[in-house]
Amino acid sequence: MKLCMIGTGYVGLVSGVCFSDVGNTVYCVDKDKKKIEELNKGNVPIYEPGLEEILKKNYKQNRLKFTTDLKKAVSSSDIIFICVGTPTKKNSNSADLKYVFSVAKELKKIIKSYKIIITKSTVPVTTGDKIENILKNLGHKRFYLSR
Ligand SMILES: NC(=O)c1ccc[n+]([C@@H]2O[C@H](COP(=O)([O-])OP(=O)(O)OC[C@H]3O[C@@H](n4cnc5c(N)ncnc54)[C@H](O)[C@@H]3O)[C@@H](O)[C@H]2O)c1
Repeated sequence: MKLCMIGTGYVGLVSGVCFSDVGNTVYCVDKDKKKIEELNKGNVPIYEPGLEEILKKNYKQNRLKFTTDLKKAVSSSDIIFICVGTPTKKNSNSADLKYVFSVAKELKKIIKSYKIIITKSTVPVTTGDKIENILKNLGHKRFYLSR
């Protein structure tokens, strides 16, 4: 399958690399250009045992791609994973969901055909409904899955 990880941090990168290793083509997208440049040079920003080796193997075999081009990655993929951060808000115990909702708004502009969207970010109950509301009226059949 063709997969798109939006957010190439601990969760998006590790999941994306593992998905590519079982045969999927994976687009890892991040808005951090420097991170994407380094990943395209084979420089892994985090330490996870075995990650660098698996990443390099799948990158060479063209199953793993690192890009800032969200539109191309989403258009080329069947399944989209939202893996952006949800930091705790200042002076509150609740999660700041602005990055998740910002991705949903970007997806609404880009998506032109059927996609499965999965929220991998840690979010409170009802966030899936809010994302679905943002994506409403895409004008074609779609399916939404929450983590
Ligand atoms: N780190 C963990 O062990 C862990 C475990 C379980 C769940 N989670 C959850 O997973 C989510 C991601 O955590 P993480 O540790 O990978 O975060 P992270 O901060 O390491 O990575 C998030 C990435 O998303 C990118 N990003 C933000 N907005 C973007 C956008 N609009 N388009 C493209 N990229 C964008 C950031 O540049 C960053 O590289 C959080 O909700 C976290 O709570 C994390």
